Amino acid sequence: KIIPVILSGGAGTRLWPVSRKAYPKPFMQLADGKTLAELTFDRALDIATEGEVVTVTSRDYYFLCKDIYKKNKKCDIDKQSFLLEPIGRNTAPAIALAALQVQKAHGDDAIMIVMPSDHLIKNIETFNKTVYQAAELAAKGYLTTFGIFPTAPETGYGYIKAGQRLNDHASVIEQFVEKPSLEVAEAYVSSGEYSWNSGMFAFQVGSLIEAMQKTANEVMTQAKACFDSTDTNNSQVEFELKQFMQLPDISIDYAVMEKADKRAVVDSRFDWNDIGSWNAMANLSDSDEAGNRIEGKAITVDSKNCYIRAGDRLVAVVGVNDLMVVDTTDAVLIAHKDKSQGVKDVVQFLKAKD
Ligand code: GDD
Ligand code: MG
Repeated sequence: KIIPVILSGGAGTRLWPVSRKAYPKPFMQLADGKTLAELTFDRALDIATEGEVVTVTSRDYYFLCKDIYKKNKKCDIDKQSFLLEPIGRNTAPAIALAALQVQKAHGDDAIMIVMPSDHLIKNIETFNKTVYQAAELAAKGYLTTFGIFPTAPETGYGYIKAGQRLNDHASVIEQFVEKPSLEVAEAYVSSGEYSWNSGMFAFQVGSLIEAMQKTANEVMTQAKACFDSTDTNNSQVEFELKQFMQLPDISIDYAVMEKADKRAVVDSRFDWNDIGSWNAMANLSDSDEAGNRIEGKAITVDSKNCYIRAGDRLVAVVGVNDLMVVDTTDAVLIAHKDKSQGVKDVVQFLKAKD
């Protein structure tokens, strides 16, 4: 049995002012009008053997998710389960709770495919094939990751060093390093021995729970306490804030993947983009002869290599190069295109002022 688990949590602060607390990254419109949440659900339902997808998200996004899922014609909405968090506690608690839910409904042998809701993936046939390869390894007890060929020393990713080959498409993991420093990332990429962690995972429920008890016992203990004190018989499970606050705030990468014993990486060749910044978003739309990329209504005069995302208003730029302009009704972002990582500092600043 394959049960996909969608994680939809983080706010995507580098995509301010479009991605906000009320409307985070998975629910932003892409150039073709679709949202990442919609595309992720379509992918998930496609590999789900029971027609069921488990979504772990904030209780604020429950109706938003449900409406989006209903757009998929193959979706039986009554089969979908939602685990609703009162606050975000990062991915380790979210995955632990999903594991307990899947264990309860489908037993220890069920395979969870963990999928972040904010990735853009193309090449669905290759994707599905890779997921089945990962599921096979997970069924043998390997905590399985999807390794992406690294193209730059990105510091926001996990890095995986492959060890002994398991078959023609997978290896044992020799080392997993979450978010290394720039220097280390540069060394990893130039060594040619590392791949990026895609952020997706294939876990057999029983193996994951066991591994987590070893590497992150507090997370599993608190997740169990939380799960046991909640009514989990409905398709919509709501956790209480007081219990939930006891869960340690830690990601699955640090809590489990860096430390566990039996881990594998599957070579992944589908197109993968984590759309972490406006730069990544810009690269999704075509550029004109001057290198400008435009979404919405905009006029460029004497300007090169700009990215413009207009909202309801017309945006015009004259005589400027390498700028990103993102306009919304109540906020506008103007940034140099090499500084797209710095956008999150704006959100930090706003939060500090609150
Ligand atoms: N439900 C829920 N609750 N989801 C969450 C929470 C939470 O508290 N926190 C994060 N998520 C979701 C995010 O919405 C995203 O879809 C996914 O889990 C991963 O979280 P990120 O915060 O985006 O992680 P990251 O990008 O820093 O790092 C992870 O992804 C990289 C690839 O994009 C790691 O797995 C890295 O190793 C990996 O390279
Ligand atoms: Mg991410």
